[in-house]
Amino acid sequence: MEPIRVALAGAGNCAWSFSQFTALAQANPEARLPGLMSHTVGGYRLADVTVVAAFDVDAAKVGLPLAEAFAAPAISATAFTALGTDRDAPVLPAPVLDGLEGPLGAVVRPAAAARDATPEHVAKALVEYDVDVLVIALPTGSSRAIRMFANAALAAGVAVVNCTPEELARDAGLRRRFAEAGVVLLGDDLRSHFGATTLHTALIELLLSRGVVLSDTYQLNVGGNTDFLNLADARRSASKFASKANALRAAGMADVDGVAGPTGYIGHLADTKVCFASIKATSVLGSGIEIDVKLTVEDSPNAAGVIANAVRVGKTATDRGLSGVLDDVTALLFKSPPHGLPETEARAAFLGFAS
Ligand SMILES: NC(=O)c1ccc[n+]([C@@H]2O[C@H](COP(=O)([O-])OP(=O)(O)OC[C@H]3O[C@@H](n4cnc5c(N)ncnc54)[C@H](O)[C@@H]3O)[C@@H](O)[C@H]2O)c1
Repeated sequence: MEPIRVALAGAGNCAWSFSQFTALAQANPEARLPGLMSHTVGGYRLADVTVVAAFDVDAAKVGLPLAEAFAAPAISATAFTALGTDRDAPVLPAPVLDGLEGPLGAVVRPAAAARDATPEHVAKALVEYDVDVLVIALPTGSSRAIRMFANAALAAGVAVVNCTPEELARDAGLRRRFAEAGVVLLGDDLRSHFGATTLHTALIELLLSRGVVLSDTYQLNVGGNTDFLNLADARRSASKFASKANALRAAGMADVDGVAGPTGYIGHLADTKVCFASIKATSVLGSGIEIDVKLTVEDSPNAAGVIANAVRVGKTATDRGLSGVLDDVTALLFKSPPHGLPETEARAAFLGFAS
């Protein structure tokens, strides 16, 4: 099959892990890679995905080939493998807008070229590089920059995967514009492959399936990458808390006292993310159930597994003449799609689409 040509908006930790995942697949196209939920989606293997360009604003990345940009100081995700055919894809400048507001401004120096970049440059580059799918992996809270990328993709007729919790797919106006233009829009906020939300919602669904009544719950997350640094600022993390609440509601949690979100930056954890989740519930004869779990994962590879599915869904949907938001398929891939589903239903819908 023709390769799926992907551009990355934000050459950060998620982008780095995703690029490594595609490199691993390209090196051995028929291998069943750990963590890849579906070897093919619409006939596309992960080996059929290639990164052709990236956009960033960091002076340590802009103007460099991808392989060198991912050695920048802001990258903390583990290097498991070297990049393959994508290593020479260029990192192009993008308008900074609100991308580096908050704590990130202290650790990332914007490239001079980013100051001159315009949304028109971004749309033009998407056409020039013949991009099929744009993966938006910008810092949470940078709603203006994220929306700029969505509009540039729309102008260029390029499908969008919104990894961030900023509302694109949940925005009815934007959804309609993508549908009318015949362009696919997938989002919002990646549901990590095996992360805090996946575990938390699975436990909630299990308890509810046993007729147990939930009383209260929390999910606290700490980490040490730039995503957690950024999210330590309450002005940047509001959309992440809202997105996680949407995920718990889709799992069936209603009228329950619950809090879930990023709760601290601990630099030495780097790309390690630690989640503490607690659930209290009432069972037979009013007897109590308490669950307290700790989950430790590497944050960015967890995102890569889902991006690997989402880009293939984006291209397959385009091939099939679909456009706008795909309600059933997105429920497995994102925490906060317009219409969430419990995991079991979401997984069946995704596998049905993929086959
Ligand atoms: N497991 C996960 O890591 C995970 C899961 C779900 C959602 N997400 C979301 O994915 C997004 C990306 O996460 P990350 O860990 O890769 O973050 P990151 O901080 O490693 O990367 C963000 C990148 O965006 C760049 N950037 C900032 N402003 C820009 C602009 N205007 N134009 C282009 N690039 C710009 C930064 O320089 C940086 O390279 C975040 O919104 C995060 O919440 C991540």
